[in-house]
Amino acid sequence: MHQYQTGFGNHFASEAVAGALPVGRNSPQRPAFGLYAEQFSVSAFTMPRSDNCRSWFYRMRPAAAHPPFAPCDSGSQLRSAPFTHEPVSPNRLRWEPLPMPQEPVDWLDGLVTYGGNGDVGTGAGIAAHLYAANRSMERRVFQSSDGELLIVPQLGTLHIDTEMGRLDVPPGHIAVIPRGLRFAVRLDEPSRGYVCENYGSPFRLPDLGPIGSNGLANPRDFETPVAWFEDVERETELVQKFQGRLWRTVLGHSPFDVVAWHGNAAPCRYDLSRFNTIGTVSFDHPDPSIFTVLTSPSETAGTANCDFVIFPPRWMVGEDTFRPPWFHRNVMSEFMGLVHGVYDAKEGGGFVPGGASLHNQMNGHGPDAETTRKAMDAKLEPQKIENTLAFMFESRWVIRPTEFAMTIPALQGDYDACWDGFDKATLPQ
Ligand SMILES: [Fe+2]
Repeated sequence: MHQYQTGFGNHFASEAVAGALPVGRNSPQRPAFGLYAEQFSVSAFTMPRSDNCRSWFYRMRPAAAHPPFAPCDSGSQLRSAPFTHEPVSPNRLRWEPLPMPQEPVDWLDGLVTYGGNGDVGTGAGIAAHLYAANRSMERRVFQSSDGELLIVPQLGTLHIDTEMGRLDVPPGHIAVIPRGLRFAVRLDEPSRGYVCENYGSPFRLPDLGPIGSNGLANPRDFETPVAWFEDVERETELVQKFQGRLWRTVLGHSPFDVVAWHGNAAPCRYDLSRFNTIGTVSFDHPDPSIFTVLTSPSETAGTANCDFVIFPPRWMVGEDTFRPPWFHRNVMSEFMGLVHGVYDAKEGGGFVPGGASLHNQMNGHGPDAETTRKAMDAKLEPQKIENTLAFMFESRWVIRPTEFAMTIPALQGDYDACWDGFDKATLPQ
């Protein structure tokens, strides 16, 4: 059990050794114990105060002390924007879960990219990755300079050691790792899950509008680790994702040597069962944006670079209402995953935990025929949807699948069939 500080985006302060954190200044002439002060900026220095995001580290050696990086991505299925595989299919796509690897594969090597959008060079868009891994990252540390990482475990707890502290992230939780932060993932068992790599502005809590000052994901439920370090002199591989390529160097020591830190750029975890789900108490149901946990805004107001949306357990009480997620065609593109249970729009099966689906811009989707029939015949008593957790990475730009995603055996050939068999409406003669 690690210790955490609570609150989303707070200005935290933490020291693993008493006296390591300077008081009243960021960069003293001689920090305590000979530590080095280093700023970690994930927003431009001149960002408005409300969006300004940076921390100060007090570490045993500067992060700058390393040999040159060399390219190392041969064999990796990790990909970055711009996504160029052609043609970009308008079809609804769905995948079975990734098989667990038979060989030893760590979290980083287990990452594969299903699709994405934008341009990593200009800092817009996202990538949707999945991972299947069965061993810990041993003497191996990763940083993505290309984006912030929102990690959604589906199977197996992730133990994420970072420069700023340690997080335990079981399925049902998410972790958010700031762009550029160094971390390693340890596993207890074969593990699987999803990652949204966010090239755009950092995830934040959505505005609540008329909902008011409480509800959805409440700020105090986000947990950020306390400072932790290890004083270890041994070879450690540092892998960096930079402009879509992987690069490596070898350090003579653990890079987890930050003894104290303060600031508001920090990793966090969040227990999705704490999400205060809000829905109708009359008729119809709100747009699924009512289930937004975190949002990465774009320059166009209300049009997200990425929304992270969940479909958690909740009561359905709408009167004279078609209760499943309704049929729609959306200017936004939707990449979905399932942590556990059954998603209430796909009771006919085929969307299984660990699987994924993609409904791209303006292409019709919604409940399958079986779910629709049941929902139209249902007696509308209060009903609790239980034991389920689906989620969506929703983006303003088309999510362009990779060649890998379009050719793996996990891609289902018959997804469209779930929308077969609707009865035609009968008009009056
Ligand atoms: Fe949708």
